[in-house]
Amino acid sequence: MSDASRTRSPEETRLLQLAATRLPGGVLGSARVPDDLAFVVERGRGSHVWDVSGREYIDYLMGSGPMILGHSHPTVVAAVRDQLEKGTTFFMVNEAIVRLADEVCRAVPCAEQVRFTSTGSEATFFALRAARTWRRRDKIMKFEGGYHGSHDYALMSSSPRSPKAFPAPTPDSAGIPHVIEGEVLIAPFNDLATVEGLLAVHADSLAAVIVEPFQRLLTPQPGFLAGLRALTVRYEIPLIFDEVVTGFRLAYGGAQEHYGVVPDLAAVGKIVGGGFPLAAVCGREDIMKAFDPHRDGTPEFVAQVGTLNGNPVAAVAGLATLAELRKPGAYARLRQTGTRLRDGVAELIRRSGVPAQVIGESMVFDIVFTDRPVTDYRMLLAADGARLRLFNAECLRRGLVKGREKLYVSLAHTEDDVARTLEIFEAALAVVRDAPTPAPA
Ligand SMILES: Cc1ncc(COP(=O)(O)O)c(C=O)c1O
Repeated sequence: MSDASRTRSPEETRLLQLAATRLPGGVLGSARVPDDLAFVVERGRGSHVWDVSGREYIDYLMGSGPMILGHSHPTVVAAVRDQLEKGTTFFMVNEAIVRLADEVCRAVPCAEQVRFTSTGSEATFFALRAARTWRRRDKIMKFEGGYHGSHDYALMSSSPRSPKAFPAPTPDSAGIPHVIEGEVLIAPFNDLATVEGLLAVHADSLAAVIVEPFQRLLTPQPGFLAGLRALTVRYEIPLIFDEVVTGFRLAYGGAQEHYGVVPDLAAVGKIVGGGFPLAAVCGREDIMKAFDPHRDGTPEFVAQVGTLNGNPVAAVAGLATLAELRKPGAYARLRQTGTRLRDGVAELIRRSGVPAQVIGESMVFDIVFTDRPVTDYRMLLAADGARLRLFNAECLRRGLVKGREKLYVSLAHTEDDVARTLEIFEAALAVVRDAPTPAPA
């Protein structure tokens, strides 16, 4: 596909202008791309999306993760069509959502009960609320660089530009009441000794420790998650795994199965809703009981309700997605595609001479522009962000969409996609190598 064939149509230009007028920043809250590369999606199928001008892209954003089967997967489409005829939302217990709750409990090691929400942000928010109720404390510990959605407690030191001394948090957004800063302690990912020291001082005021077991792109160092589990057991603090990204992805049982460490509660999202708005808190029954309305009127009751929670269209999409993932060989195939891509990129980096490396797991990874080891947020922050932005833009220019700092591999990505992706990466890396060192953003 030559650059000349990738011209924006007048219709797409009009839609982008309308978006710029009607949407703050012209976007949905997701990261912006350079103006000359902005586009409006018209449709998606499998591992590709097309814009309103008819331009085709290989998609590694995959809806920010839910579309592990690819766009418009026929099984999911059929399940959703069928449910549309039966009713789209009830605000009542329905067949599809009960079946999905059962499947989540079968799949996720810590899950004895499930409470559904519409977004991953709500799932982590309510997991924290349930933990506070059980533990009768207020404060939480989270990890620097960890992202748990956009609520007030989550947006603390998820991407601080100038990190503070641990455990002081830095709010990631305007509009968060300052008092929340006193409720959140920040710890360094993959540094068990520091976590242990912080817990020794603060354990008695903590309601929960929440962690992304695979934090953004950072894999847990051997013993880190097991050590965190042992410490939280010692202090009787509920451990919450945020599995919104990792759930049903690293393995059918998520990071808990993959890394062999079982928390008390987990938040799942993305894949579980098959591309529709659905997420969940799941975990130990004695903690989950806080959501039971029989407790209404007591201090042990967590109020949690949402108009679309338990939505049956999302539930059948989730069930259909999970059924595909249970088919023999699904995860092996996902890992195989990811490994081929990862190995290919690593080889391209080596040949290019650009100081960079690939980090992450086989089905979710990215390039970071540093040759130093990267095991925590500060090391990630020290990588060359300007080069990454240039690399992403050069990929997009050539018809490849990826997240700002993540590629999601799906079961829809083909051999041809892998080959074309490596061609695009090679060209983008050459531009990065030859570019004058860009000014920091
Ligand atoms: C680890 C993690 N937790 C929570 C969330 C929030 O989920 P949602 O965007 O559905 O609110 C995300 C979103 O990407 C996430 O990656």
